[in-house]
Amino acid sequence: MKFFIDTANLAQIKEANDLGILDGVTTNPSLMAKEGIKGADNITNHYKTICDIVDGDISAEVLSTTFEEIIEEGKKLAAIHPNIVVKVPMIKDGVKAIKWFTDNKIKTNCTLIFSAGQAILAAKAGATYVSPFLGRIDDSGWDGVQLIEQIAQIFAVQGFKTEILAASIRNANHIIRCAEAGADVCTCPLDSILALLKHPLTDIGLAKFLEDAKKM
Ligand code: E4P
Repeated sequence: MKFFIDTANLAQIKEANDLGILDGVTTNPSLMAKEGIKGADNITNHYKTICDIVDGDISAEVLSTTFEEIIEEGKKLAAIHPNIVVKVPMIKDGVKAIKWFTDNKIKTNCTLIFSAGQAILAAKAGATYVSPFLGRIDDSGWDGVQLIEQIAQIFAVQGFKTEILAASIRNANHIIRCAEAGADVCTCPLDSILALLKHPLTDIGLAKFLEDAKKM
């Protein structure tokens, strides 16, 4: 399973990249706004900087919602760097745009996936990735990991090449359960990645080893 970091924060992207386990980055308008990135030039420069830090797929989301505008915006985003993946919302014009990008060899990430039916449509259109938002599904009282399992089973049976990018990850357990469920990628906040490191028995064991090492 690939690891992406789900943030537009450069310090966090560098920290995850320095760990040596990072395969890519996902951003969205909320994450960009959180970092105070405003205006076309600043947005473009921010994506360039991220591409300079991480050698992997970098999702940049379109803000348009009509076919023609999504295509225009997506072409500009894709021109920023070869690693840019155009993130397109799961709407009718978005599906149509994903097909156009696929035919024109531009990678896509279909975002805001909340059902298996949406994932099937995006895969049929040739999306490189589908992003089921499992944390938001859990927040509303359903089981997000179950959706990952269902999509993984459908894609395997149907032979879809689209990768399942588990998004809206809230904790380390989500990451582990997504790995088990067959997600191809998990996009995670830095604290969820770092939480994978932690086990109290590791801390106790290391303290004891270091203590005993003094007697060596
Ligand atoms: C990533 O591609 C998604 O935009 C992101 O994971 C959404 O996460 P959230 O539900 O925490 O906003």
